[in-house]
Amino acid sequence: MHWTKRIATGAMALALSCAAPYAIAQHHAAKAAAQVAASASSEQDWWKNAVIYEVYPRSFQDTNNDGIGDLNGITKRLDYLKELGVDAIWLSPIYPSPQADFGYDISDYENIDPQYGTLADFDRLIAEANKRHIRVIMDMVMNHSSDEHKWFLESRSSRDNPYRDWYVWRDGKGETATSKGEPPNNWQSAFGHSAWQWDEKTRQYYYHKFYVKQPDLNWDNPKVHEAFKGIIDFWLKRGVGGFRFDAITTLYEDPNLTDEGVVKDKNGEPIMNAFGEPELDDSRTDNLPGVHPVMQEMRATADQFDSDAFPGKRVLIGETYLPNIGELEKMYGPAGKPEFELPMDTLLGFINKLDVATFRTRLTDAEDKLGGHIPLLVFDNHDNPRLDARYGDGVHNTDIERVISTILFASRGAALFYYGDEIGMKTTPPTRKEDVKDPVGVTGWPKEKGRDGERTPMQWDADANAGFTAAGVKPWLPVPPSYTTVNVQAEQPSPDSLLTWYKELIRLKKTNPAFAEGKNVLLDTANIKVLSWMRQLPGAPTVVVSVNFTAEPQTVSLAIPGVDPGASGKVRTLLKTPGAQDPASLGAIALGPFGVYIGEVQQ
Ligand code: GLC
Repeated sequence: MHWTKRIATGAMALALSCAAPYAIAQHHAAKAAAQVAASASSEQDWWKNAVIYEVYPRSFQDTNNDGIGDLNGITKRLDYLKELGVDAIWLSPIYPSPQADFGYDISDYENIDPQYGTLADFDRLIAEANKRHIRVIMDMVMNHSSDEHKWFLESRSSRDNPYRDWYVWRDGKGETATSKGEPPNNWQSAFGHSAWQWDEKTRQYYYHKFYVKQPDLNWDNPKVHEAFKGIIDFWLKRGVGGFRFDAITTLYEDPNLTDEGVVKDKNGEPIMNAFGEPELDDSRTDNLPGVHPVMQEMRATADQFDSDAFPGKRVLIGETYLPNIGELEKMYGPAGKPEFELPMDTLLGFINKLDVATFRTRLTDAEDKLGGHIPLLVFDNHDNPRLDARYGDGVHNTDIERVISTILFASRGAALFYYGDEIGMKTTPPTRKEDVKDPVGVTGWPKEKGRDGERTPMQWDADANAGFTAAGVKPWLPVPPSYTTVNVQAEQPSPDSLLTWYKELIRLKKTNPAFAEGKNVLLDTANIKVLSWMRQLPGAPTVVVSVNFTAEPQTVSLAIPGVDPGASGKVRTLLKTPGAQDPASLGAIALGPFGVYIGEVQQ
């Protein structure tokens, strides 16, 4: 499921921010921390147990009072991110852009959009992030540029311009000297309607998988490869810690322009998308094999920087919505030809339903079917309704967010999360069409309200504009009403808050050896109400985790080899949800509604 097939935001559950008190167990971490530091967390391997935080710069922190977040705002908040425990921040695009798709339409890949600051601000951000041992990961959009990029302006200027074949130009069907005919085939834009745009000047169509202002680059052209290797080099020299490759599976299209199939429902009727057209199967425009050699090239380019003045692997992250685990496994590259370190496992994070059996299968797949590679777990981003809307029930949302964050941080792998999830920010879509900013919402209204609802300003405090921008300034998207209680300042001092829960989970991930590196082994696998697993690392105490996927109390019995489930004193609590009792034994772990229990086995 790609984000373009995201669920409608309209029927979103109402969130109740009921922060019930809970006890955070005392954790004796010093010894464990030293062990972890000596093993997996070497500089080169930093990414293997990484905590990565997605910043949507436009919405994070405004410092020049124009209502739009900026680089200096991110720099200002680095201490907050450090305290949270993140290893890296991924910035959605900050390059010069007409902002038709809020930065994903790039008009210059080697500069900073003045709305966000300057290259000097960027260098300062990198320097300050380095001081705090936080890496900065850039978004790399290679599928398309802006139609205002000089490459495209050249390309569209004449059929024999040297840049003509940097983009995908095709004749229409039935085109004549006087008529443009029909688009070359039935392919659709993810932003609605045909993916082909007629260009009168040179009388051909150009292809755009995304918005009409995002023409696709032609990856059959070696010059495009060279251009992007140069761009990657440019940012690596400035000290970035890696890249997140945007929409990477859409790099290539079928050169024969074969029509795509229509997706049918169980009665054989076409499924209609939010734009009122039949949904297509993406079989000719997504996940074509050409992407693999490209990523091998990019990997080799990045590898040259692995051991210079700023140590540590330059990590390649992929936006990889794929249909199954086998396709995800391929994204790591064949033996001897590495591609991504961390292609996103969206199969787990976007199940969008608390179904124990499906979670169990996907977690087992991530453990066993990725060829021993590190999974990148992710449950949220700037393209999908937030966690409350996809997993919440409207009554226990905070507890459900604890469940999801536990799966994220307590499973083996790198963990990626979205700004604001750590405080429980709610999806807040626009209510009137005239307020919509995202072109997806403009075209799809009212069925598809677009992505504004998950991009609202970060809620720092309870002041006017939530500390995002000065009082009296109009933020680019409205601050949701929840900011009075859901904000960093209110949650920071509270041991009961979601923010504190996130910090505790991250601390465990970083300091407990089994949490950091241990194998994931599913437990109690016939249970359809509670998901349980253990983390096992030779020489370290095993950790058990149980999360209740229901609104009813549950009790589970965990069978650990060599431990009598009835014996008392065999499990020591590391973290648990509000009001829960410490279990007497592994045979009787009691969980409240959407309760979480994490304990260390005493063997
Ligand atoms: C990716 C981005 C999304 C953007 C699209 C086109 O899916 O995450 O925000 O609209 O690519 O660049």
